[in-house]
Amino acid sequence: MKDRILELRKILDEHNHNYYVLSQPTISDREFDALLEELIELEKKHPELYDPNSPSQRVGGDLLDGFQSFPHQYPMLSLSNSYSFEEVREFDERLKKLVEIPFEYVCELKYDGVAVSLTYKNGQLFRALTRGDGTKGDDITQNVRTINTVPLKLKGNYPAEFEIRGEIFMPKASFIKLNEERKANGEDLYANARNTASGTIKQLNSKEVAKRNLDCYLYHVIGKDLPFDNHYDNLMAAQSWGFHIPDPNKNMILKTNDFAEIESFMSYWEANKHQLAFEIDGLVFKANAYTIQKLAGSTAKSPRWAIAYKFETEQAITRLEKITFQVGRTGAITPVANLVPVSLAGTTVKRASLHNADQIAKLDIREGDFVMVEKGGEIIPKIVDVDLSQRDSNTVPFEYITQCPECNTELVRVEGEAMHYCPNDKSCPPQIKGKLEHFISRKAMDIDGLGAETVELLYDKGLIQDAADIYHLKYEELIALDRMADKSVRNLLKRVEDSKQIPFERVLFAIGIRHVGETVAKKLASVYKNISRLSEASYDELVEVDEIGPKIAATVCFFFQQEENLLLVKRLQEAGLQMEVIETTPSSDKLAGQIFVVSGVFSQFSRDELKKMITSNGGKVASSISSKTSFVVAGENMGPSKLEKANKLGVAIIGEEDFLNRLND
Ligand code: IVH
Repeated sequence: MKDRILELRKILDEHNHNYYVLSQPTISDREFDALLEELIELEKKHPELYDPNSPSQRVGGDLLDGFQSFPHQYPMLSLSNSYSFEEVREFDERLKKLVEIPFEYVCELKYDGVAVSLTYKNGQLFRALTRGDGTKGDDITQNVRTINTVPLKLKGNYPAEFEIRGEIFMPKASFIKLNEERKANGEDLYANARNTASGTIKQLNSKEVAKRNLDCYLYHVIGKDLPFDNHYDNLMAAQSWGFHIPDPNKNMILKTNDFAEIESFMSYWEANKHQLAFEIDGLVFKANAYTIQKLAGSTAKSPRWAIAYKFETEQAITRLEKITFQVGRTGAITPVANLVPVSLAGTTVKRASLHNADQIAKLDIREGDFVMVEKGGEIIPKIVDVDLSQRDSNTVPFEYITQCPECNTELVRVEGEAMHYCPNDKSCPPQIKGKLEHFISRKAMDIDGLGAETVELLYDKGLIQDAADIYHLKYEELIALDRMADKSVRNLLKRVEDSKQIPFERVLFAIGIRHVGETVAKKLASVYKNISRLSEASYDELVEVDEIGPKIAATVCFFFQQEENLLLVKRLQEAGLQMEVIETTPSSDKLAGQIFVVSGVFSQFSRDELKKMITSNGGKVASSISSKTSFVVAGENMGPSKLEKANKLGVAIIGEEDFLNRLND
């Protein structure tokens, strides 16, 4: 069994590398998943073979209480910046004078993300640290393990111990997808990929990090026993050990002793940076040979043998014709600048985000103004300034709307929040349509055939007002509509019928409670089991649930306090939707009659997984220790007050191993 586990780990590491680093998978996703599943099952049966660098660990582990900080073995310096070819040339002249012998440069991309330093010992990822203050950084190893392009075990002929540094970032496509999901969940959108990557890697929940699709390019190998005496060759060697290294064939890295080539590298990437799957904010030029690097030395902040060339943020001036407003499904009002089309960063920009009322007031943005539009890391361009020299004397300060542009309801602004909201969620058309579209969407009730246009049509014709109405649609009503043929109507009605089998957690997501996205819905469903228990849960109870914060608890409570919402839920229930979790029968009754409290951080299973094991084997889980508690299953970092209480009441404290043994006995 041990052999099979080791073999599976090896096979999966190899496929992982083929897929993520080389982009050349040799097996199907399904085959990969089957192997991973087999490994996870075997590892569960053999907890003694636990390995933090097993490919099974890429899905993330337990919640951390905080990050521990560690000193960097070599300080993490930053780079001095330049902003023009001229400045790069001056840098070159300075360096030549300093070292007095000819040398080569390595030209690289400047990835726009978060720096990370990885230490490997005996071919295994030992520790990942953030830059921190340059002398010590935070331990983010558990999060970094979830990044598929970071090897957990190395291949080939690597030094026994070394450090490798690089940049963690979120590819453009992942960022767009994440924001689309957030939009579907009625959550605020993230501003740009860089900040999202940096926020993600500092999350305490590595399972969430695993979902975010981060990537990492490595750009600096450091150590005493490196195979070569120069930067470029060691980087290429690191590629053979399994690291994600920029591709020389795609001009992502270039070694040259001809300064003219630096200039063409610069113009090539100025012109082509938008073709990349990730964002770069400039280029980096480094002297290649370590002898040259040593000769040049470093200042306290940055090496004298390297320089960053930063791209200018792309800006353009254009006329702002009109400010309009969008109303989202949650009622949030977004001001939008409608612009005279202008070309910017490779695309034509017609609209830009204005964020909120404060932003407009701060810059005194007026309709008719010439405005400066910027596209930094952001996908949606933003207005950063007004060109007052071109302001027409006829313009007037912009007055922010006080009523909903769609339904005329007086807008509200929650204290401490920048956004205005339309509170009329009962009859404000875009809110209702938005809610209906969310309800039928693929990840919710998945009612194919009821696309956004049909929803609009059905709503405009008065056939549906809310989600429950969908379940009362009739063949005769639908066939009478334009564009609806017999086949599509039948198909649609079948999909509506089929949706009654969609599990409770997705129904809960579909209902569209603010801040209750897919993950939160899953969590609430698994804890409360049915809608009636959830609707009765108090704020205090809800905030006690793992991963449910005050904001979510408050909106859930508020939702179920509204008469209309209770009525909607009731009508959906009557229509036959799943309003409870269908439990699989307990896999044993070994733990019947025993009450467990699970506390702390565990190495093999998450708290939730342990709790599930208890309940599916007939035991009960309690949240606090009392004289009725049979066992406290204690992990690392269990609170001292809990320990004290357990001791005082004489409740047995067992570890994860002990618990698993009891279960398997
Ligand atoms: S080399 C001593 N190379 O830019 C050498 N840095 O402003 C230090 N960065 O902290 C870094 N791409 O986070 C290097 N190809 C690249 C880079 C790069 C992005 C980041 C890195 C560093 C910052 C310096």
